[in-house]
Amino acid sequence: MTLPRLTLFDTDPAESAVDAVVLGVHSHDRAGELLIGAGAESVAAAFDGQLTEALRLLGATGAAGEVVKLATLGTITAPLVVAVGLGPVPAGASCDPEVLRRGAGAALRAVAGLGKVALALPVPDDESAPRAVRALAEGALLGAYQFAGYKSTPARKRPVSAIALHVPEARDRSTRAEVKRATIAATAVARARDWVNTAPNYLRPPDFADRVAEAATEAGLAVEVLNERALRRAGYGGILAVGQGSEAPPRLVRLEYTPPGGRAVARVALVGKGITFDTGGVSIKPAQGMWEMTSDMSGAAAVAATLLAVAALKPRITVTGYLPIAENMPSGSAYRPGDVIRMYNGKRVEVLNTDAEGRMILADAIARACEDEPDYLIETSTLTGAQIVALGKRVAGVMGTPELCERVRRAGELAGEMIWPMPMPDDVRSSMDSAVADVLQTAAGLDKSGGMLQGAWFLSEFVTPDLPWAHIDIAGPAYHSGEPYGYISKGGTGVPVRTLLNLLEDIARAGGKN
Ligand code: BES
Ligand code: MN
Ligand code: ZN
Repeated sequence: MTLPRLTLFDTDPAESAVDAVVLGVHSHDRAGELLIGAGAESVAAAFDGQLTEALRLLGATGAAGEVVKLATLGTITAPLVVAVGLGPVPAGASCDPEVLRRGAGAALRAVAGLGKVALALPVPDDESAPRAVRALAEGALLGAYQFAGYKSTPARKRPVSAIALHVPEARDRSTRAEVKRATIAATAVARARDWVNTAPNYLRPPDFADRVAEAATEAGLAVEVLNERALRRAGYGGILAVGQGSEAPPRLVRLEYTPPGGRAVARVALVGKGITFDTGGVSIKPAQGMWEMTSDMSGAAAVAATLLAVAALKPRITVTGYLPIAENMPSGSAYRPGDVIRMYNGKRVEVLNTDAEGRMILADAIARACEDEPDYLIETSTLTGAQIVALGKRVAGVMGTPELCERVRRAGELAGEMIWPMPMPDDVRSSMDSAVADVLQTAAGLDKSGGMLQGAWFLSEFVTPDLPWAHIDIAGPAYHSGEPYGYISKGGTGVPVRTLLNLLEDIARAGGKN
C-alpha cells in the first residue's frame, strides 16, 4: 500500500485547517481526573477549560489505547477532536516512545475515511524530541496501514492521505531527519506486511522471488536469484529437499547493498526464512490454524524489506540479505522423515519431521552467507511453535553469541519490538546427536523440550565458528490474528524490520567494533 504523506508544522493546532486534530489525554494518578497531553494546550484553551469535562462525559479515562472523538462545533478550526489515551502522566519529562507510537497508531486507525489530520501529541522541547518524533511518525504511518485485500468491492474507509505532525520547531534538522528515517522504516514495514498478507496461492516461491527481485532492483541493490537448476548444481540439499514436494520450485535470493564509494566499516549478513506456505509436508499439520502458515515467509519478507530501507538510508556498512524460499507441501515427491540430506556445507542431516522445514532451508542459506565472510550474521524466522509457548505472541526469542543477542535485545527495545535472549544449554545439543548422520534435525524421539533452543542449536551447526551471530525466532510476533491495536494491524506485523534497522545503525555507528 502507499502510506500517507507526513509533514511537520509548528503553528497553532487550534487553527489548523484539517479534518481532525489528534491530542493526548492522561489519566490522572488519584482523583480520576483527566489531563490534556502536552502539545494541545491551545486546543484545550479554545474549549475554555471544558475539554476534559466533555471528554469525561464521553467516557474517556485516559487509559492507553483508548480513542474518544468529539465534535468541536466551531471552537477550533478542525471539526473533530480525537483524544487518544496516553496512560498516567509520565514520571519523567516525556512519554515512553512506545506509548506515543501506539497512541498515534490507534488514532490513525480511528480517523480512516478522513482526508487530512493533525497530530498535536506530546513532543518535548529538549534532547528527547527526536525519539518522540520518530515514535509518533512511525506509529501514525503504520496505524494508517491497510492491506488492499481481495474484495470485489473494496473497503469502505480508506486511510487518510496526509498527516501533519505538530513539533516545537518544524525546521529543526534532527527533527526532519527523524521524520525521513521514520518514513523509510514505516515504508519497509508496510512492504513486509504486504508480502505476508498476500494469499499463499498468489505468492508461491517463484512469485515471491520475482517480487523481491523487482523491488530490490528498483532500489538499486545487487540481486542474484538461484533457480532450482542452479540450486541443484551448487548442492543446496536442504532447500531442495523442502522444495521437492511442491510443484512450485524453490529459490535462493541474494540481495546486496554496498555503501557509496565502497567504504564499509563492517559487513553484515541477514538471513530470513521464506516458506511461502507451511503445510508441514508429510508430517502434516492439523487443519485448525494451518491458514496462518501463509505467514511462514515473514523472516524473508523482513530481511528483504530491511534491505530496501538500507538502500534508502545508505549506512556505511555492507549489508547482504539471503532469502531461501520454498513451499512445504506433502506429495509423492516430498521429502520424508528418515531421509538423510546432504546440506550445502556438506554436513549430513537426519530428518525426523518434515514440519521442521525452516531450519533445513536456513541451514543452507546460513552456510552460503558465511562464504561471504561477514562480520555479523543475523537470521530471523518463524521457526518454532515452542517460541510461542515460551514467550507468547508478542515477544520474540533471540539466541546466538551473547553480546550480539544483547545488542539485538536493545535494538528491539528501542523499536518497541520485544525480543528476549534465550540460552543454548549443552544437553539440548546432545539430544540432537544422530546415530547415522552428523546431526539430527530435531531432538531424538521428537522430544519437544526446549524446542526453540533445538532450532538455535541446529542452525549454529552451519555458522562459521567464532562469528558473532543471532537467531531471532519470530513465530509469535510476526503475525497478529486478533483485532488491531496500537499501530499493529491484523495479519503481518513487519516484525523485526525496525529492530534490524536499529541494529544496523548501531553497527554502523560503532564502526563494526564490539
Ligand atoms: N512454521 C512453523 C513454526 C510456527 C508455528 C510458526 C506456529 C508460527 C506459528 C515451523 O516450520 C514448524 O512447524 N515447527 C515445528 C518444529 C517441530 C516439528 C520440531 C513446530 O514448532 O512444531
Ligand atoms: Mn513447519
Ligand atoms: Zn515453518
